[in-house]
Amino acid sequence: MPVMPPEIVRTVAELRQAVNAARLSGKKIGLVPTMGALHAGHVSLVEASDAVCGYTVVTVFVNPTQFGPKEDFSKYPRTFDADVAAVGRAGADLVFAPDNAEVYPAGFATFVEMSGVAEPLEGQFRPGHYRGVATIVLKLFQMVGADIAFFGQKDYQQTRVVQQMVRDFNVPIQIEVCPTVREPDGLALSSRNIYLSAAERRSALVISRALRKVEQSVAAGQRDVWKLRDDLQTELATVPEVRVQYAVVADAETLHEPAILDRPCVALIAAHVGTTRLIDNVLLAPPK
Ligand code: PAJ
Repeated sequence: MPVMPPEIVRTVAELRQAVNAARLSGKKIGLVPTMGALHAGHVSLVEASDAVCGYTVVTVFVNPTQFGPKEDFSKYPRTFDADVAAVGRAGADLVFAPDNAEVYPAGFATFVEMSGVAEPLEGQFRPGHYRGVATIVLKLFQMVGADIAFFGQKDYQQTRVVQQMVRDFNVPIQIEVCPTVREPDGLALSSRNIYLSAAERRSALVISRALRKVEQSVAAGQRDVWKLRDDLQTELATVPEVRVQYAVVADAETLHEPAILDRPCVALIAAHVGTTRLIDNVLLAPPK
């Protein structure tokens, strides 16, 4: 069956009109928020939405408020035509791609500030990042009015931030977290991977390797979180080109570091390879 290209809209008014029409025809509305430069990880979220929602909205907006002053906002990859084609093939019905003034009109003054899960890890190394993420995600939820929003486990702390915000602000939306899509050699797909040279890409593999080792230690019965964290750091240290910001095992809900793996946990890494910053994680179930 030939796929219909998705409708492309640039304003909130057009977006609401299209979504209302879909809702009136009885369709469940799915939302996949993105910053574009789409890859198979993003596409998997669109497919997950298309599987359970009759109407899928993909947003493409490189959100300036979540980038720090020294981060890559201006050089963030922008591949809009390819993005539209890819999400169309995956079942998207509408692409919302607003410009900056539509999202942050002159005089914009309200931001979401979060303590708790937004504070450690990325919160330490990217001050203000989750303020920007929580603000844009709440705005997108308000603009679209979706039933279900789909996020990737790849950005694990982001999923916790979004879940916390939805709970705290009573946002009537369901959050689905989908598995991280990886290259065959283990590297988690990321829009930033295109910044990596061939040598850097090889070095970067130590990140997923370290996470796999920790998974194996847990499978072999290791429950000492300090030992697991040591294993992560020891493996990462074998590739000095990879400069680690954090490599921890944390409570999957609070992101605090427990002493014993007696609850669902997550191993999380952030590291620079050259000038590219990469993050990755795996969930660790407590041994039975
Ligand atoms: P972006 O980095 O474009 O990611 C959009 C969504 O794709 C996020 O939910 C992210 O976790 C998911 N994703 C990225 N790589 C993935 C992979 N390898 N496997 C599965 N899912 C993956 O995250 C953002 O944009 C922004 O912060 C946003 C939520 C859009 C707010 O601006």
